[in-house]
Amino acid sequence: MTDAGAQAVQAAAPLVTIRGLHKAYRRGPETVDVLHGIDLDIPRGDFVALMGPSGSGKTTLLNLIGGLDSPTSGEIAIEGERIDRMSAGQLSNWRSRHVGFVFQFYNLMPMLTAQKNVELPLLLTSLSAAERRRRAQIALTLVGLAERRAHKPNELSGGQQQRVAIARAIVSDPTFLICDEPTGDLDRQSAEEILGLLQELNRDYGKTIVMVTHDPRAAEYATRTIHLDKGELVDAPAVPH
Ligand SMILES: Nc1ncnc2c1ncn2[C@@H]1O[C@H](COP(=O)(O)OP(=O)(O)O)[C@@H](O)[C@H]1O
Ligand SMILES: [Mg+2]
Repeated sequence: MTDAGAQAVQAAAPLVTIRGLHKAYRRGPETVDVLHGIDLDIPRGDFVALMGPSGSGKTTLLNLIGGLDSPTSGEIAIEGERIDRMSAGQLSNWRSRHVGFVFQFYNLMPMLTAQKNVELPLLLTSLSAAERRRRAQIALTLVGLAERRAHKPNELSGGQQQRVAIARAIVSDPTFLICDEPTGDLDRQSAEEILGLLQELNRDYGKTIVMVTHDPRAAEYATRTIHLDKGELVDAPAVPH
C-alpha cells in the first residue's frame, strides 16, 4: 500500500476499538463480574455520552478506555495500539501522552495555584519552565480563567475549579478526554458552562471526548449517547468482528 493509502486507512479507522471486553473485580473470595463482553467503536472526533444506572459499570468502562485499569479479557485498541496488553509502566507512559482526565470532584492540588495545577502534567515532559508556563496560560485562557491563574482551588467556585481541571486535562494536547460525571457536583448554570466548554473543545478543536453522565440534559451536548445496563451495552450498533 502507498503511504497515502496507509494514512487514509489510519484516518478511517476508529480511534477506540473495543472487542469482547470483560472486567471482573476480586472482592475477597468472591469475583464480581462487572462488564460482560463489550463491543464498541468510537470514531475520532466523537463526543460520546455514556449513560446508565448507578453500578452498571460506566466508571469501570471509562477507566479501561483511559488506561487507568486493565481488562480481565478482551481487546482495547487506541489508534491501533493494544493497551490491554501493556504493563503498568507502559500504560502509565501511554496515558500521559494520550489521555486527559476530568473527574467529578476536580482532583486539584489544594496548595497549588490554578497555573501550577495546570502545569502539573507538563512536569513529566522535557519542556522548559517558560514553555510550561506559556502552555498553561494558553489552556487557562481557553477555559476563560486567565485572570484567576494565581488563585488556589479554595478561592475558586466549583465551576471554576472544574474549568481548571479541564485546562489541566488539555494542556498536553492529549488524543482524547475522558470525563466521569464532570458536572455531577455542580449547580445547573455551572454545569451548562462546563458542558458548553466541552462541546467547544469537541466542535472547534476536534477533541474526542468520552463522558459518563446520568443526566439526560448533559447527554444532549454530546454527538452520540450509548447506554450501559448491568455491564452490557443496550441498543449499540453492531460492530464488525
Ligand atoms: N475496585 C473495585 N473492586 C470491587 N468492585 C468494584 C470496584 N470498582 C467497582 N466495583 C463494582 O463494580 C460495579 C460497577 O461499578 P462502576 O463501574 O463504578 O459503576 P457506575 O460508574 O456505573 O456507577 C459496582 O457493583 C461496583 O461495586
Ligand atoms: Mg461511576
